[in-house]
Parts: sequence; structure tokens; C-alpha cells
Amino acid sequence: MVHVGSINVAIVGVGNCASALVQGIEHYRDVEPDADIPGLLNPVLGGYHVGDLDVVCGFDIDERKVGRDVGEAIFADPNCALEVREEPPEVEAPVYMAPPADGRSPRMDEADEDDAFVVADRDPVDPAAKLAEHDVDVLVNLLPVGSQQATETWMQAALEAEVAVVNGIPVFVASEPSWAKRFTDADVPILGDDVKSQVGATITHRVLSNMFENRGVDVGETYQLNVGGNTDFLTLQDVERLDSKRTSKTEAVQSQLDEPLDEHDIKIAPSDYVPFLGDNKVAFIRMQGEGFLGAPVELEARLSVEDSPNSAGILTDAIRCAALAADEGRAGPIEGPSSLFFKRPPAQCTDEEALERMQAFVTETADGN
Ligand SMILES: NC(=O)c1ccc[n+]([C@@H]2O[C@H](COP(=O)([O-])OP(=O)(O)OC[C@H]3O[C@@H](n4cnc5c(N)ncnc54)[C@H](O)[C@@H]3O)[C@@H](O)[C@H]2O)c1
Repeated sequence: MVHVGSINVAIVGVGNCASALVQGIEHYRDVEPDADIPGLLNPVLGGYHVGDLDVVCGFDIDERKVGRDVGEAIFADPNCALEVREEPPEVEAPVYMAPPADGRSPRMDEADEDDAFVVADRDPVDPAAKLAEHDVDVLVNLLPVGSQQATETWMQAALEAEVAVVNGIPVFVASEPSWAKRFTDADVPILGDDVKSQVGATITHRVLSNMFENRGVDVGETYQLNVGGNTDFLTLQDVERLDSKRTSKTEAVQSQLDEPLDEHDIKIAPSDYVPFLGDNKVAFIRMQGEGFLGAPVELEARLSVEDSPNSAGILTDAIRCAALAADEGRAGPIEGPSSLFFKRPPAQCTDEEALERMQAFVTETADGN
């Protein structure tokens, strides 16, 4: 089947990842379907061109974003993602006031206002009613890390409005059996959880882990320490919000080892907030193990990336897979694409297997373009 028409996308959390996503949709809107574009993996996926993504509304709580067009809101403080355009893109999609719930970490009280969220003094809209009003096909959850209550509000709204979900954050929904069942029972597809960036620390660490295992070197100890200066790293200063991120990132690597490492021998975490880094994230990975004759093998890698664009290209693929799933009447967690695009999918496998499973899903649900 060749899919025609656009995918109406709503974004909850108009922060840095949303900025890169919205700019990316505009930037690549008119690329040739079969062109080889640096940085863009799939101009067309399952018959949907990246330009078929149509952001129809956003939801946020920040007074500098609510009430504005999504195109303007993405360039408002405290967003600090790369800006590839001098002028805000004309998206013609309003940003509505969302229920604040637990979106803003109290640790932000200690930060400079330009670096933190400022909650608008407005009444929140009814989430499910707005999703229905805008005829949303796919809801993308980009709330701050650790927003458990706010995420649950939006998941409930998506179920009520029968809107497919892409859960970009490490609050577990697609991988959490009771939520997965609710999506299956409601005939609504979901992809998640916690987006695995294009070339980020997680995929790099997984590839290195697989290489050690495949070459017969037992990984003895490993760490992955991450620093950055965006509001995601600021929010992660709140230790209670660290848990799910740590679980998601650690499981993504442990799942690639023949024998999971003892807790003592593996440390994977967002490690510190360094304001001047802005959206630049730096990851330090160390792996040590034993090779032939017990000889020591040590590897140290440093990865430096712009954090938000790194996630946004993957989101364009995940959104199109969510739309394909909805088009074909699939319900509940969509496993193949979730394994490829997310750190904490319902089922872990290697990235090669995940790619094959995602491609099989696209072939089954579309014409495979
Ligand atoms: N590469 C990446 O950047 C990456 C990778 C994996 C996962 N993630 C996750 O994606 C999410 C978004 O990341 P980001 O860098 O865009 O974060 P961000 O801090 O830049 O944006 C969060 C946005 O949510 C808004 N917000 C706060 N409370 C809200 C509420 N109750 N309702 C609606 N909006 C609310 C904030 O005002 C802000 O605009 C985070 O949970 C992050 O952990 C990001």
C-alpha cells in the first residue's frame, strides 16, 4: 500500500528535542525521496516522506512558549538547541497550556531563570479534547525526564482520543506490561520507551559491547559518564528522576552482554550538569576486559554530539512507524521499531536484529519504500 497524505503530529514538551524535530521536518520537507542526504537516514519510510509530518499543536507549561506558534516557541528560552534557520519556521500550530503536574523539577528553583522552566499562570486545556480537536494521528511525548504523573495524564488522553503514541522519554509505558495492555485493549499503538539517539552514547556503548563479546573478550567492568548543559541535564540533577534514566541506559548495554555484569562493575549515568555546554553532550565510555591468555584489554572513547538533533532524526522514523501501525490497525507496543529506535523497548535484541525487524514491519505494513 502506498500511503498518501500527512501525519498530524502533536508534541507534549516543546523543548530542545521538539526544536530539532520541528526544524528537521522543515529542513528536509522538499528533499528528493531517493536522495542520499547526509544525516537523514530515511527521506521516505513506508511510503511517508519526512515532509508528510505536519505538527498541528504543541503543549507546554512555560510562559515563554504557551500561546505562541510552535515555530516561535522552539526558539524561546530555555531552549538552546542548534538553530539552522535565522527566522522561526512557520508551523501554524498553537502551543497550549498543559497540566503542570510533575513536569518541573524543584531543583530548577536553584537555577538561573534563563536556564529553567517558568510555569505560566494559565488554566490547562483538556488534553484528550485538544488531541481530538486537532485530529492528531501521533502524539510525541517529550516531557522532562521523570515526569511520571504528567506522562500518565497524556497516555490516558491518547487512549481516550485513540491517538498513536511515540514515547521519547524514560518513563516506562510501552515496556510496562499494565500500560502495554491498556494500549492493546484500546486498539491504540505505542512505540517506546526513551529514544535511542542516532549516534549517541547508548548505541556506541552497545556496538562496543557486542564487539568485545564477538571477539571473545569478556567485559569485566565498564562505565559511561555523560555531561551536558541543557535542561534535560539540569532536570537530571534531581536524583529521584535519575532512576528511570539509569535503568533505561544500563539495560540497553547489559542486554548486549552474554552475562549481565554485577552492579558493582557497571556504571552508566548522566553524571553532571555543565551549563556552558548547552545542548552539547559529551560521553566518556570505558571498557575493560580479558583477552587471550587473560591479557588485559582497555578501551576509552569520548563522544561529543549536539544532543537534541541526535534524537530528532530517529523521532521522524518512529513517528512514521507509529502512523503505519495505526493505518494498519495494529495495537499495543510495536516491537520491531521500538527495539531499533528506543533504549527501553518491550523486547531487547541486537541492533542488527532490530533493524531487520523494523524493516519487516515496514514491508508488512506498507510498500516498503
Ligand atoms: N538526545 C536527547 O536529547 C534525548 C534522548 C533520549 C531521551 N530524551 C528525553 O526526551 C525528553 C525531552 O528532552 P528535551 O531535551 O527536549 O527536554 P527539555 O527540557 O528541553 O524540554 C522539556 C519541555 O517540557 C516542558 N514541560 C515541562 N513540564 C511540562 C508539562 N507538565 N507539560 C508539558 N510540557 C512541560 C518544558 O517547558 C520544556 O519545554 C526528556 O525526557 C529526555 O530525557 C532526550
